[in-house]
Amino acid sequence: MTNSSDIIINRMEHIFNSDIDLNTRKEDVQELLKEFKKTNKQLYKILKIGDKIQRKDYMELRVKYDEIEELNREIENTQKEVVFTMGTMGEFRSHETGLHVRRVALYSKILAKYYGLGPSETDLLFHAAPMHDIGKIAIPDAILNKPGKLTADEFEIMKNHAQLGYEMINDSDRPLLIAAAIVAHEHHEKWDGTGYPRGLKEQEIHIYGRITALADVFDALGSKRVYKSGWSDEKIFAFLKEQSGKQFDPTLINVFFDNLDEILAVRDELQDKDEEEKAHVKSKSV
Ligand SMILES: [Fe+2]
Ligand SMILES: [Fe+2]
Repeated sequence: MTNSSDIIINRMEHIFNSDIDLNTRKEDVQELLKEFKKTNKQLYKILKIGDKIQRKDYMELRVKYDEIEELNREIENTQKEVVFTMGTMGEFRSHETGLHVRRVALYSKILAKYYGLGPSETDLLFHAAPMHDIGKIAIPDAILNKPGKLTADEFEIMKNHAQLGYEMINDSDRPLLIAAAIVAHEHHEKWDGTGYPRGLKEQEIHIYGRITALADVFDALGSKRVYKSGWSDEKIFAFLKEQSGKQFDPTLINVFFDNLDEILAVRDELQDKDEEEKAHVKSKSV
């Protein structure tokens, strides 16, 4: 059986052969058109089948992709939960409530957003900030929960928590844990270079460290601890302003005061439970 391409070539030869009469050439042209139409139809059929196969492959890939995305989301959420729980463990040992780390995370998020970090970095810091004191897990209880001032030696041991926290988690190549390691390592560094553990200054301190430092100190100053009662807002604000360019990044202090309403709304929303409970017991006994 002659195939289409043989017929087409044959007809073309006839059409361009000047020895063949016009009528035969006309027939050849018609035959040629017929063959083209037939080939076209076959091509269309093949393309349609190809399309169908491609669509099927695409749909199968799409389902697999959705499954992988779902799994990734789950892994990310699990990571965030584990990181948050680890963070609360550090704070729990020093008799902090889980609310402290939540507040620090939210203050950090506000500061990061208005400082100008993008949404993904802001989210990363929000989830990493609760890990800032993870190293406290390794600090002896007698030092961690000592009422009153620490001796110079005790304070040296206490300071180790920044380096220890970093060493606990710096092996991972996961962005969330990398951010958490930075926060644990640098949240006690000071803008003027007098902080610890490395005495970094200004921009040498990662922005995550600078932000968490301010969020943590602001929350700690207002909270009651084993060794102190909470400061008044007036005293806290005066201290933060006075420490602008010394302990804290001056740009961040401006961001803090420019967005104070939002920060105080978080503090109001997430008050420490024991204070709420105390208020509750008080109202019951009255
Ligand atoms: Fe700390
Ligand atoms: Fe803290």
